[in-house]
Amino acid sequence: MTRGDQAAWAARIRAQIAFERAREGAPEGFPVLHPIATGRYTDRDFYDLEREGVWKRSWLLAGRDEDFEGVGAFRRFDRTGSPVVIVRGSDGILRAFFNTCQHRGAPVVRDDCGTAKRLRCQYHSWTYDLDGRLLQVPDRRDFPELDDSQRGLKPIRCEVHDGFVFVNEDAAAPDLVSWLGPVANEWSPLRGAALRAHGSRSKRVPANWKIVADAFLETYHVRTIHPGTVAKLLDHRGAAMGLFRYGHSRMVTPKWEAALERERATAHPLPEIPGLDPLFRETNPAYSLFPNLITPLDTVGFPIILFWPVDPETTEVTWTFYGPPTESAEQEQAWALLLEIFDTVMAEDFMNLEPMQRSIASGALGSIPLGYQERRIYHLHEEIDRCIGRERVPDALRVEPLLERFWERPA
Ligand code: FES
Ligand SMILES: [Fe+2]
Repeated sequence: MTRGDQAAWAARIRAQIAFERAREGAPEGFPVLHPIATGRYTDRDFYDLEREGVWKRSWLLAGRDEDFEGVGAFRRFDRTGSPVVIVRGSDGILRAFFNTCQHRGAPVVRDDCGTAKRLRCQYHSWTYDLDGRLLQVPDRRDFPELDDSQRGLKPIRCEVHDGFVFVNEDAAAPDLVSWLGPVANEWSPLRGAALRAHGSRSKRVPANWKIVADAFLETYHVRTIHPGTVAKLLDHRGAAMGLFRYGHSRMVTPKWEAALERERATAHPLPEIPGLDPLFRETNPAYSLFPNLITPLDTVGFPIILFWPVDPETTEVTWTFYGPPTESAEQEQAWALLLEIFDTVMAEDFMNLEPMQRSIASGALGSIPLGYQERRIYHLHEEIDRCIGRERVPDALRVEPLLERFWERPA
């Protein structure tokens, strides 16, 4: 986005915020969202449908370009249950493969990360080039019929956007930038490739991944759950939301005037990402990339939060902060402090999730009524059914598509 495009975008969001603050009900013509069946959070068969339809068919954030420094740098990625290895080839290109030897299926890489000249299976030493080609088979005389060209490592899609590495098991998926849609453009001022990680956390939450994801898609809960933290900063009644194709969404929540004054009065020790529209300072622009990525942006940097299903009732949540590279010990301390403050907010967010899962699993709640402010949750669930194939979702669990006509389309 050019500066001019950014200003026009910001003006549109400001108008939306003003509208949201002033409205006295849902806007004219906005549908009443149908209650979401709670079986979607507990049902084993539905979880299996998600695995096939969502996790094996979506672009998933698997790392950063700088995590793969030099030819042969590799990392394993097995968050979805499929064993995957991402490796930089001798041509400098990052590729992803199933970490599965095409002899009898042993892994070609056992370490979580490292550097390799070739990928050599440790079972019988079949050896593959960094681009996946089968190079060597010991005791070759015993495989007279073997067609090496058919026995390379099975590739999966791998694309890098602005420093972020995504993989997708679906060979037919749209390319990454088309799939990101308007988000790619709106994120361009962040200059993702120049950012660096400043600390990570992970937390295992005893709740279905959607209980966790839903919790980050609205600010309706802010006054109750975050009275001493987020509620002091954000006016949830002004939250302006945008829904995009492929299940992504945006939520820009304005800061209170008093909070802005406090921020103006204190010098922040961390440098800002240069060139951002003032809207980034006046609000908290948060994005959701389907299915499992949330990022509440800030001018000095931001966390990327990911939700990984472990089983139907367990989720591994990971979050990593990104910002411009640090230049001093003082800045490193500032990042450490930021992570600590965020720990408090996350602990507040996690507080209700386990009891909610237990309630839902006990049958105490048949369905979930969603308000207008919770429409991004409905949008997520609509897209899950679209990915699975609506006809494959059991009638009792299906979500009626209602929101497509509200999607923002690229100009
Ligand atoms: S399983 Fe890999 S060489 Fe046999
Ligand atoms: Fe929250």
